[in-house]
Amino acid sequence: MAEPAVTANGPDYGDVQGLVRFGHGRMKESSYVLLRVRSVEAARAWLRSVPVTSATATVPPPATAVQVALTAAGLEALGVPASVRAGFSPEFLAGMTEVSRSRRLGDVGENAPSHWEWGGASLVPHVLVMLFAEPGRLEGLVRSTTGTSWGEAFEVLRWLESGDLRAAEPFGFADGISQPQVDWSQEHDPAAGRIEYGNVVALGEFLLGYRNEYGKYTDRPVLDAGAATAGLLAAEDAPEKKDLGRNGTYLVLRQLRQDVRGFWRFVLAESRGDLAEAEKLAAAFVGRRRTGEPLALDRPGAASGVLPDPDPVRLNRFTYDDDPAGARCPIGAHVRRANPRNADYVGRPSALGRLLADLGFGRRGFGDDLTSSVRFHRILRRGRAYGPSLSPEGAIAPAPPSDPERGLHFACLNANICRQFEFIQSAWMASTKFSGLTGESDPLVGNREPIPGCPVTDGFTMPQEGGLPRRVSVLPQFVTVRGGAYFFLPGLRALRYIAGAP
Ligand code: HEM
Repeated sequence: MAEPAVTANGPDYGDVQGLVRFGHGRMKESSYVLLRVRSVEAARAWLRSVPVTSATATVPPPATAVQVALTAAGLEALGVPASVRAGFSPEFLAGMTEVSRSRRLGDVGENAPSHWEWGGASLVPHVLVMLFAEPGRLEGLVRSTTGTSWGEAFEVLRWLESGDLRAAEPFGFADGISQPQVDWSQEHDPAAGRIEYGNVVALGEFLLGYRNEYGKYTDRPVLDAGAATAGLLAAEDAPEKKDLGRNGTYLVLRQLRQDVRGFWRFVLAESRGDLAEAEKLAAAFVGRRRTGEPLALDRPGAASGVLPDPDPVRLNRFTYDDDPAGARCPIGAHVRRANPRNADYVGRPSALGRLLADLGFGRRGFGDDLTSSVRFHRILRRGRAYGPSLSPEGAIAPAPPSDPERGLHFACLNANICRQFEFIQSAWMASTKFSGLTGESDPLVGNREPIPGCPVTDGFTMPQEGGLPRRVSVLPQFVTVRGGAYFFLPGLRALRYIAGAP
């Protein structure tokens, strides 16, 4: 994706971890290590010496990258004082597995943290080290990064091996197409209302220490100036203070196991064995074809050219404005739930319509408030698939005796976990009442567990042009959560502070 021009208002890229700006797409190999601190001194020394890759653009670009993130438990284990930790957001401090949070995120039943391989109870990681490398370079990177003091510093909880980066996620659909365009140069006025959906999003939605879409600064630890904090940058909104959050962000990591065979067998059975029909149903679940073509653009000229800031990616230049009933792209499709592509008002109403909406009238459905102003709920996705790929034809063939696990190491970056990742996951994905629907949750990631007031959650509705909607029922659970945690991905200066650098 093209980067907007960088002006004097851009961040100090040398202080930002590279993952925020680049998905490291050229580095097809990756491995994530979940660690617990064994020796505080050795761990701090390792963190001070590890060459963390910054977001500075270089020619040629680096062939390998190392990124480091820490959980709240990790900050504590490294000796960061409680008064400093208290400045981080409540959801980061409480962690992903707090009971009410599990309910809201849909982490119940098979998804419950008690079943997780890591992240639940005693298996909470302290440090996440993400290693990325161009083909053939990963082994060397692992060797050089783990080094001599590694074993003394850390106990390895898990190596999460990702498959080679490929264009498709395990169900076989092109992934990584739609991303918000970060306003690195801070040129657009975030506080102004948005009449039309746009893809440019304020820097402060993805990096702490900058203005967010409200025109405000997201809470983060802002510390007194002194010897210990001398290496930190000043806070923009309180220049006499030092900003531990600046150039850092939160990283949400979830290991999502995908039942690829179950997915294709279900759509095939629903389509009475017709593979072409099965493809269509699978595409309706996602909202895009396997090639990435959005269903919203199924009619020539549909909904294109309405964006004030057209995305450079052709497959991203659309909204759902002229498909309000979901006849082309079902309202409950994964990509439509994940980003309803609305502005501050649903359906681009006239000035009178906006006034009526402000006064609480003229809504088309109860869900309008929930799906408007999507600019406050965007995430930068940085996930990678794991396990060998499997075609739809392979998925419906008999499975070998030991069928390897497949899935997504879902990772996303956001400055406000609650308003961004958690909102998408709970109010849009897991909700059984999304945008006027009922009795269904996200067709890909929904857990199908009955909830109070909604005993049936395993349906899927496909509105038809001029006809009755098609209703698919008894969707199995295709995705199961196997682990997860919230991390702080600090700026490089902040990492040195955490590591106790003088
Ligand atoms: C195994 C689980 C998942 C699978 C297989 C999956 C698959 C996909 C696919 C195929 C796309 C379309 C390609 C693209 O636009 O890049 C997509 C888009 C997206 N997904 Fe997922 N996804 C999964 C989990 C999640 C989760 C847990 C979230 C967030 C809570 C999420 C958020 C999004 C968002 C925000 C988009 C872009 C929507 C847009 O802007 O149009 N996904 N996903």
